[in-house]
Amino acid sequence: MLSSIIFVLVSLCFFLLVHGDGFTSIDYAEALNKSLLYYEAQRSGELPIHQRVEWRAYSALSDGREAGVDLEGGYYNAGDNVKFGFPLAFTITMLSWSTIEFQAQLKANNQLTYALEAIQWGTDYLIKAHPEPHVLYGQVGDGDSDHACWQRPEDMTTPRPAYKIDEKNPGSDLAAETAAAFAAASLAFHPKNETYASILLTHAKQLFEFASNYSGLYQNSITTAAKFYNSSGYEDELLWAAVWLYRATNEDVYLDFVDESSGPGGPRSIFYWDDKYVGVQVLIAKQGKNNVQQTPGGLLWFLSYNLQYVTTAAFVAAAYSEYLTTNLATFDCPGGTIKPNDLLLLAKSQVDYILGSNPRSTSYMVGFGSTYPNQVHHRGVSIVSIKVNPAPVSCQGGYDLYFNKDAANPNVLDGAVVSGPDENDNYSDLRSN
Ligand SMILES: *[C@@H]1O[C@H](CO)[C@@H](O)[C@H](O)[C@H]1NC(C)=O
Ligand SMILES: *[C@@H]1O[C@H](CO)[C@@H](O)[C@H](O)[C@H]1NC(C)=O
Ligand SMILES: *[C@@H]1O[C@H](CO)[C@@H](O)[C@H](O)[C@H]1NC(C)=O
Ligand SMILES: *[C@@H]1O[C@H](CO)[C@@H](O)[C@H](O)[C@H]1NC(C)=O
Ligand SMILES: *[C@@H]1O[C@H](CO)[C@@H](O)[C@H](O)[C@H]1NC(C)=O
Repeated sequence: MLSSIIFVLVSLCFFLLVHGDGFTSIDYAEALNKSLLYYEAQRSGELPIHQRVEWRAYSALSDGREAGVDLEGGYYNAGDNVKFGFPLAFTITMLSWSTIEFQAQLKANNQLTYALEAIQWGTDYLIKAHPEPHVLYGQVGDGDSDHACWQRPEDMTTPRPAYKIDEKNPGSDLAAETAAAFAAASLAFHPKNETYASILLTHAKQLFEFASNYSGLYQNSITTAAKFYNSSGYEDELLWAAVWLYRATNEDVYLDFVDESSGPGGPRSIFYWDDKYVGVQVLIAKQGKNNVQQTPGGLLWFLSYNLQYVTTAAFVAAAYSEYLTTNLATFDCPGGTIKPNDLLLLAKSQVDYILGSNPRSTSYMVGFGSTYPNQVHHRGVSIVSIKVNPAPVSCQGGYDLYFNKDAANPNVLDGAVVSGPDENDNYSDLRSN
């Protein structure tokens, strides 16, 4: 999951300011820097001259061509070479929220420019993917044929079909999440470039109108997405888009939409690409009751592929702590009163666990600390760089030569956070995991 990383980033930048409680051995600045490097490793299309992740090269330059549109650019998904629009848009929303909330800290660590570049790499692509108010391309590449191959993105021999939603084939979840991404990115960009911010906001408004007037689950229109990023409903994305548009415009129509809805989802404990209610609740400052299991080592435990949920939880705890501090407020849980710093310490404990303060004393952020996963399940990083060996790696050849090799990846996917340990704090560093 591309999006899992950014939440750590945000929690991190906050801790840069507050790590006054004695725990100083973790280099949060380095983790923050690597978090943003990860996005460069995931880039599709023509890379810029100042690309810092040098083992990557141009790839998928003709994406969209067979549909008659230019869809070059954007981000690959996790360890494969598909551009899945639904989680991609959520990633951009969260990167933007991170940048809005913690702009000063990013700036103080010379990372604000990189954060904005990471957002823009997504929004420039999303602008191309939204050529008409009621047309949005939501996927390039096909999950089944892509997953049957183990190839660098630079060598891809798999089909690159482009899939869209429109009035006859709607997708309220996809359109609304992309609206949220545009609205949040508009806020993130506003201090730097008002022209760009205003272009982004126009796309956000059009997509919200499309999402709310043409109802449907996007995987009924882009059926190939169902096996990979199936949406369980679109009410959460519509609300999430409405709160972002309200923040970006202050127009009552968006607040009215929230007020007239059936409510922000009730008590929830999990926040991720398919469920945005916790984000909505934090943005409109109404919290639910959460009861979450922990591993013996103190990691919040939600589901397998767990760290994506932990990083979002750490992020909302840190952001909500900020809001409570600003309002000099606390809130009550069945077990007692929660103060802002309690939330912050919870977030910090999770980030520290991920960065190495855990029973296995290993960092789950690649490239960070002295021990970290070195067989990350990722096509590009597990195959020698095209700049080192340009001989094409075939679809099946990639399995024989690289996937099945019990050796460290030849490249380092700096900043990636793996799915993480199991509920007993156990982890096996195998490419098949
Ligand atoms: C961030 O990463 C780049 C690329 O590895 C490196 O050159 C730079 O020194 C790093 N900056 C910090 C603050 O760690
Ligand atoms: C601001 O954004 C506009 C629209 O994308 C672009 O043409 C312009 O070059 C940008 N300005 C700066 C200073 O980056
Ligand atoms: C479409 O959506 C907008 C904004 O959500 C709303 O004002 C308008 O009435 C809707 N139009 C139709 C035909 O439903
Ligand atoms: C996708 O979600 C819909 C709506 O929740 C559900 O009916 C369907 O069974 C799901 N499909 C898959 C492949 O998970
Ligand atoms: C952790 O993994 C190791 C190696 O696979 C296994 O021997 C051990 O039983 C596991 N421990 C738990 C608590 O699952």
